[in-house]
This record gives sequence, structure tokens and C-alpha cells, in this order.
Amino acid sequence: MCGIVGYTGVQNGAPILLEGLKKLEYRGYDSAGIAVIQDRTIHIQKVTGRIANLCEKTQDGLLTPGCTGIGHTRWATHGAPTDTNAHPHASNDGRFAVVHNGIIENYVELRRELTEKGYHFESETDTEVIVHLVEHYYHGDFQKAVMKTANRLQGSYALGIICADEPGRVFVVREASPLILGVGIGENFFASDVTAMVAYTRNVIYLEDGEFAELTANAIRVFDCAGREIPKQINRITWDIQAAEKGGYDHFMLKEIMEQPRAAKATITPRIQSGQIQLDDLDLDFGNVRRILITACGSAYYAGCAGKYTIEKLCRIPVQMELASELRYADPLVDEHTLLIVLSQSGETADTIAAMKECRRRGAKVLAIVNVVGSTIAKLADYVLYTWAGPEIAVATTKGYTTQLLVLYLFALYTAKKLNTIEETEYCRLVSCLKALPKQMQQVLDMNPAIPRLAKKYHQAYSMFFIGRNTDYAVALEGALKMKEISYIHAESYAAGELKHGTIALIHEMQPVIALCCNESVTEKTMSNIIEVKTRGAEVLAVAHRENQKIVSLADDMIYVPKVDPLLCACVEIIPLQMLAYHVAKENGCDIDKPMNLAKSVTVE
Ligand code: M6R
Repeated sequence: MCGIVGYTGVQNGAPILLEGLKKLEYRGYDSAGIAVIQDRTIHIQKVTGRIANLCEKTQDGLLTPGCTGIGHTRWATHGAPTDTNAHPHASNDGRFAVVHNGIIENYVELRRELTEKGYHFESETDTEVIVHLVEHYYHGDFQKAVMKTANRLQGSYALGIICADEPGRVFVVREASPLILGVGIGENFFASDVTAMVAYTRNVIYLEDGEFAELTANAIRVFDCAGREIPKQINRITWDIQAAEKGGYDHFMLKEIMEQPRAAKATITPRIQSGQIQLDDLDLDFGNVRRILITACGSAYYAGCAGKYTIEKLCRIPVQMELASELRYADPLVDEHTLLIVLSQSGETADTIAAMKECRRRGAKVLAIVNVVGSTIAKLADYVLYTWAGPEIAVATTKGYTTQLLVLYLFALYTAKKLNTIEETEYCRLVSCLKALPKQMQQVLDMNPAIPRLAKKYHQAYSMFFIGRNTDYAVALEGALKMKEISYIHAESYAAGELKHGTIALIHEMQPVIALCCNESVTEKTMSNIIEVKTRGAEVLAVAHRENQKIVSLADDMIYVPKVDPLLCACVEIIPLQMLAYHVAKENGCDIDKPMNLAKSVTVE
């Protein structure tokens, strides 16, 4: 929920920290700070608000010279977003500074204990206990103090710690929060995410939970929790640095919407050879699977909702959906015959990780569909299918969601073939439909120049309804979430047939209805619901393919999509809804890439 970064080397550290923080700002952006060591003194600068404020305050880092430092961008959990609560936090003697991503669950007890020992607390954060513990345990051995401190902490934490007495040395610790080390030449780095370091190095080390490391300019040493040095593999980042830049678009979200056809191709193409789906990483005994449970949060959960229809239809296996935040405490009925599919763009979502661990403990095999290579979820799973969407920066997911859908489609077809639940001709037909999707995703981007105009018409709505049936309903869930999270307009997603069971009471002239009508198996039915809401005065914006003349004549406004098989249409149908949400948010002057109160990666419960 926060982003941390650190540097030690020969360059002036602050500008590098600030650049890194800008790349991590998607993780949290209510306050930020850096700490740099100069002349054996730690200099800390903190601000409320965005990294831009910190750059201004430090004159882009020039006011804080020094070759070793740490930085933080915050998404507040404990304590309001103020300068005082911003990280880095310093020890009472000023010798140590710490940045932290995660939550210290036993901070109340630790705070009481430290207060009794005479330590003085400046902030309301859980983090501050860490730096006082380091001071408490320090008797000339920095490493020992860090280890003793880590042993006292419960919860999740990625930490960066510096000591004024040892200017070229940084310690980092990882427990259930992302932390990656960057291996440079004569300089080394750490960050919550590689995007913060990739401008300087493509060689990285992934730390595991319970490990800690010492960084100096010329070396990185990694230790297990008992302090034994352990060998680590250096991994090479292969994606293009521009993939993490805006590339001429006004917003990352727009860039990422536009990238979807390319991302789709990268997800599908290598996995279809001579008309056959190859999922080499999925060495699963399908005969043993009696049911599938899909879990995730937010959009990833909604991708699962759409994928469920395709899997059940093709594989004839019952698929149950559970929100990860519910599943983890649900005492779930899971055993060794359950395949748990976990969906996550970041691979670091705390609730998803917890649900996954719980189900594994009860015997389930876990297939993770993730975007970030080396992420916690990828590492914990029995099988991993990457979505290959490239880095996703905007808080609102777009290409992350559509590539998750595509992997679910691949999985459904692959499994159906394994289980013999699909005829060969149908299999071949659907595989060629799947191969056509990247092109159709491009078509949908090209064929809707009217969306900005529609956004001008609908942007003042106080609330909207998104309705549909079957896969159209699953897309309604995601469409409404996109509208809510970036435009702050209330949006309700509803199974079209349910309206008359209560919520139709809310329909009136000021309540636009977005009707999703792409799944041909149910469009006739949805059309009767369109008539019901129109009778009550609502304006209807329908999403359908051009040939469906009945809908064209019923709806007030149309968004067109190409005709796609109902089992695969969700990943095309969502794209105009992403665009609509984007343009409505733009009309309303919202901060599209960093919506209020949100963060990209929800690494706390
Ligand atoms: O990284 P994850 O896919 O696990 O994230 C899950 C949700 O937090 C995420 O999809 C969230 O709902 C998005 N901001 C929606 O756009």
C-alpha cells in the first residue's frame, strides 16, 4: 500500500530516490519523504501530498546531498496523511531512519513497551516502533539490531533502514510485503517494484519472506532470519523501460487501454501452436479435480466471474467464486480435489495471499494467474500462468483485467480438451475465435470515436446502472467498478433480470442505464429489461454489435463492438466501458491515474 525505495553508491542519492518514488506513486500518494546521510547525519524531508511537492521542497533533491538514502510514498493506514506521519521515521537519537511498507500488527504492545522504556513517539504510525526498536537494540552492531528488531515484529513489512554512523550501509527486511533488490555497478538499490530501479539496472534479486539483506555500494549480502548468509540468483528484467512510461498519452490508464490488443497477443500467441493450446506450466492431474474455486479481489474477481461461465460451459466442472477477503475467514470447504484459481495483477494483494494460503493448507492445489513475475502469489502457487500484460501503472486496471480473462479462456479450452468435454470441431472453432480476439480488441478501440461525446452527455449523472445477463452481467460488474473508482460517480451493477425484484424502484429520468447486450444467448431477455427501464424514463446507452438492429432502435445511444462468441466476448465488451469511464472522469477533472483513497497494490488487509 506504500512504495519504498533506497540507494547506496557514489551518485547523489536524493534525485534517484525521487525518480524512483515517482514510479512508485501509484502505490500510495498521500504523503512522501526521503532520508539521506550526509556527514554522518541523517537529513529527512517530508511533505503531505504528492512526490511533486517533495521535489519542489528539496529542489529535486539538490538540497539533500549524500550518497546513501531511503524514500517512501505513503497510503495512510495508521494515522492521518500528515507531514508528521509521513515516512521516513527517525530514532530519538537521530542515528537511524526507516521506511516501511505493510502493517505492524503488534505495534500497540511495542509502543507501550518502548514508551515505558522512555522512547518518545512523534507520529501515530505503526512504523515508528520499528526505528525505536533498532535504536534500542543497537550496541555498535547495525546488523544485529536489525535482526533483533525484525524478530519482534508481527504483521507484514518491507523495511529500508539507514544508520548515520555507517553511511554506506543499508539494511532491508522482507516479510509478506514486496521488496526487490537492484544490482548495479558500484551502486545498489532496493524498491517495492522494479519500475523504480529499471532506469539504473535490469539485474534484480527477489527477496523471500523472512530474509534480510545488507546493501553497500559494491556488494549485496542476503541472510535468512537466523542471520546465515544465503546465495541468491540474479534475475534479468527483459521488458522495455518505455513500457513503464506514458508514451505520449495523457494518462497511464489511456495508454494501458490502448495497449490491450498487443497485450492480448502476447498472452495468447505463444500458447497456441498448430491450432492447439499449450500450457506447459500446467502439469496438473485433471482427473483429480472435482471442483474449481476462483478467488481474487476487485477487478480480478470480476474477471473470474466472467471466466466462470466459460469454464463451466466448456469443462462441465462446477466453478465457485469467492471474494478473497471473505474466503480467508470462511472456514472453506476445500480439499485435495479442489483446484483453487487465484487471479491477481500485482501478485501481492494481501487478502488474496491469505485466502490462497488457507486453501492450500486444506489440501487444494493452486493455479495462480498473475502479471508480475516473481511476485508473492506466483511464488506460493503450485502452477503459474502469467498474463504477460507488461507493467500496469494506472490504479484502475485495464489490460491486467483483459489478459486475466484471456488466460481463463485458454485454461477453459485446454482443460475441456484434457477432460474430453468438447468436440474437436468446436475446440478448433473456439481456438480460432480466441486467436482473433486481439484484432477484435483493436477494432473496438477504432470503431468508437463517439465515446468522448457520450462522456460529455453522461458525465453529470449522479448515479448509473450497469445491467446485463450471464457474461454481460459479469462485464457490468467490472464496468461499474471502473466508473466508480476513477470518476467517483456512483454506479450499480445489476443482473438485468433482478431489477424488477426491487431496484427498479430507483429507475427514473435522471438515472442512465448502461445495457450490455453482447452475449447473444441472452440479448432478447435483456431487451425486455431495456424496455422496462425506458418505460420508467431512463435513458439507455447500449453496448452491442451493429447487426443487432432491435437494440439499435430501442436504445438512446449505442456503443458498438464486433460480434464475438458469447463465451469469449467479455474481453472485447469491457473495452468501451473502460473508455467511457476514462472520458467521464476526464470531463469531471478527476485524477485518473491516482484516484482518491486508492492504491494500486493492496498489500494490507
Ligand atoms: O493486483 P490485484 O489484481 O490482486 O488487485 C486486485 C484489486 O485490488 C484490483 O483489481 C482493483 O480492484 C483495481 N484497482 C480495479 O481497477
